[in-house]
Amino acid sequence: MAETAQQPLVLVSNRGPVTFDTDGSISRGTGGLVTALTGLASHRRATWIASAMGRGDADRARAAGGRAFSVDSPSGGSYDVRLVVSDEVAYERFYSIFANPMLWFIQHYLWDQSNAPDIRSHEVEAYEYGYKLVNQDLADAVVEEIDGASEPVVMVHDYHLYLVPQMVRERRPDAFLHHFVHIPWSQSDSWRVLPTKIRDELYRGILANDIVGFHTRSYRRNFLQCCEDLLELEVDHDQGVVRIDDREVWVRAYPLPIDAKATRAVSRRARVREFEDELLRRRRDFLILRVDRADLSKNVLRGFSAFDLFLEQHPEFRERVTFMAQLMPSRTDVPEYREYLERIEALVAVVNHRHGTPDWMPIQLKLRDDVEEAMAAYRHYDVHIVNAMFDGMNLVAKEGPIVNERDGVSILSENTGAHEELGEFALTVNPFDVQALANAIHRALTMSVEEREHRAEGLRGIITLRDPGDWIDEQLADVRRKAAGAAAVDLG
Ligand code: F6P
Repeated sequence: MAETAQQPLVLVSNRGPVTFDTDGSISRGTGGLVTALTGLASHRRATWIASAMGRGDADRARAAGGRAFSVDSPSGGSYDVRLVVSDEVAYERFYSIFANPMLWFIQHYLWDQSNAPDIRSHEVEAYEYGYKLVNQDLADAVVEEIDGASEPVVMVHDYHLYLVPQMVRERRPDAFLHHFVHIPWSQSDSWRVLPTKIRDELYRGILANDIVGFHTRSYRRNFLQCCEDLLELEVDHDQGVVRIDDREVWVRAYPLPIDAKATRAVSRRARVREFEDELLRRRRDFLILRVDRADLSKNVLRGFSAFDLFLEQHPEFRERVTFMAQLMPSRTDVPEYREYLERIEALVAVVNHRHGTPDWMPIQLKLRDDVEEAMAAYRHYDVHIVNAMFDGMNLVAKEGPIVNERDGVSILSENTGAHEELGEFALTVNPFDVQALANAIHRALTMSVEEREHRAEGLRGIITLRDPGDWIDEQLADVRRKAAGAAAVDLG
């Protein structure tokens, strides 16, 4: 039986916890996945296998002879990291063509299907000679890492690595394989974009796991339905079980919490104070905030269009409110992402030109990744907008209310993962309904103090109910149960 408390864990993800520059300097990885796994890796004995994502990473991997080396965690403790170098062309095909945009776009419903995607040799080769190869490289590293360990536990992460479990299973049938998917699982028809062979291979890849985890119950339901619709497998929806090749795969929801204590500690750093001073000096009556990666799924353009509409319909708010948008450029090697950034900048220019005055810029766009600057804004917003079209969890929806000091109102898209937990205390919007978002902005800015307090308190209560340690423990408890041969039970 796998005993996870004592046995070393192997974590596998594309993005690792740290990135090395060519001069050897280290920067911490960003994003929800890295935050979640850093907590896991620093509290258990774990080896974290990740792709070497640039030349600096590759140099560091070679210096370590391709083996794992120790890294100090910012949250205390240390863990071992093994960076895997793949062929450069294969990696580019894997990351910039197949994983992003192909899979990412399918799972966030981003394809404008009357126009794209065309599946040609370019895409198929990106799968065959990119996605598969990088998955194989990581699977080989896993197999090497667990060599000699009996019944090891391997936790694979995200959409980049759907083939890894099967590649490991073939060589280590005794391994306990667990896969957490950090993005939505879209409904079955969205997957029909992919040629059947590729689709089947991806599903068979992920179904080689013992447990597959998602952020929400709704993604879990979609996954089960897909297994039934696309592969005609036997599925127990009540127990969350897929039966395949005489095995059972448990499908579970483990919503990712934030570390409220650590988030608040960051918000109290001296550099945050400097940003706050500046922000408060320039502050109008009201501050609306959004903090996101500049990703198409985040629905940035409709957010600005709604603000445009709000200013037009409520001129009494002109010069009294600023919309601050801190967007971190992302995946700029993927053409769709580059174009999206250009469209964002163009729309901001239009709205600012339409409503701005010589000393008031309605939208303040900050295209950078600066967590301390974001924290300063979190502390003082009146309204926090998270209007993603469809999105995995949206940890920003949890970070804002924990740091905010003004009982700010959260406007939350009903299609974010966080909405399943926070919807009751947020102003819920349909992310495509621009007028509804404009109305929600007005409602938030004119809400009574009592209602703001009630909602903010409700949000804080839910957000602090669980922490990342619970998230890890819930998953490891299921690993132990299933490894011990327990039967799946109704999930209720
Ligand atoms: O699950 C999606 C995710 O891995 C997030 O954790 C993170 O915010 C984002 O994607 C990072 O994407 P990338 O590794 O391509 O920068």
